Amino acid sequence: MRKKIIAGNWKMNIKPGETAALVKAVAEATKDAAGIVDVVCCTPAIDIPAAVAAAAGTHVKIGAENAHWAESGAYTGEISTAMLADAGVEYVIIGHSERRQYFGESDETVNKRARAVIAAGLTAIVCIGETLEEREAGKLEEVIERQMNVGLKDISSTDAAKLVIAYEPVWAIGTGKTATPDQAQEVHALIRATLAKLVGAETAETVRIQYGGSMKASNAAELLAKKDIDGGLIGGAALKADTFAPIVAAAK
Ligand code: 13P
Repeated sequence: MRKKIIAGNWKMNIKPGETAALVKAVAEATKDAAGIVDVVCCTPAIDIPAAVAAAAGTHVKIGAENAHWAESGAYTGEISTAMLADAGVEYVIIGHSERRQYFGESDETVNKRARAVIAAGLTAIVCIGETLEEREAGKLEEVIERQMNVGLKDISSTDAAKLVIAYEPVWAIGTGKTATPDQAQEVHALIRATLAKLVGAETAETVRIQYGGSMKASNAAELLAKKDIDGGLIGGAALKADTFAPIVAAAK
């Protein structure tokens, strides 16, 4: 049985001064899920110290939204996995479609970042997913396979214990359009089959695959009921405890 994982991706929202209140509210509103569901808040880097302090002693784990692959050095503006680990972060989102779209992230840089995250003992949440044009052109399978074959290159079956994959169809992010549970399950099954070729079938069965894209209280239960949907990566609905907690409850 794979433990469900519900992670909020705060994106560029929530100021440091607002962080402790939101983390504490999430911890309180999801306390029934402690030990049953992994609950994670992935925050802007500047919020991390406040988030880690507020989550201390609760079941809530803190994640970052990106990390550089180098251990240290002359990379102005970047943050290393060693810094994140030192700050108390446990998860790092890698390759979100917004980073691919606006910041030149490629499958190759996703691979470097993901390997660095895992090497630092943190869990990488590697995001993949197709655009509407790619889906309509019949390229869904080709895109997913390329993103995984390149993005997860040299990630071993041992490393896979520190890997979560998030399937986020780009056309469903922040649009209110959700993939139907059947549409999502179909891609999650493809992801697991592709993963089996990379790390072996047995290991692939243990890796959690989250769905992301307009997931909310009203659609979470039916998505999470699908065989290969092991959690959610939540944007808009993660910015308030009262919209995030029902998704966690649906994962119980
Ligand atoms: P929304 O839930 O706002 O659609 O965002 C999804 C997402 O991008 C999570 O990483």
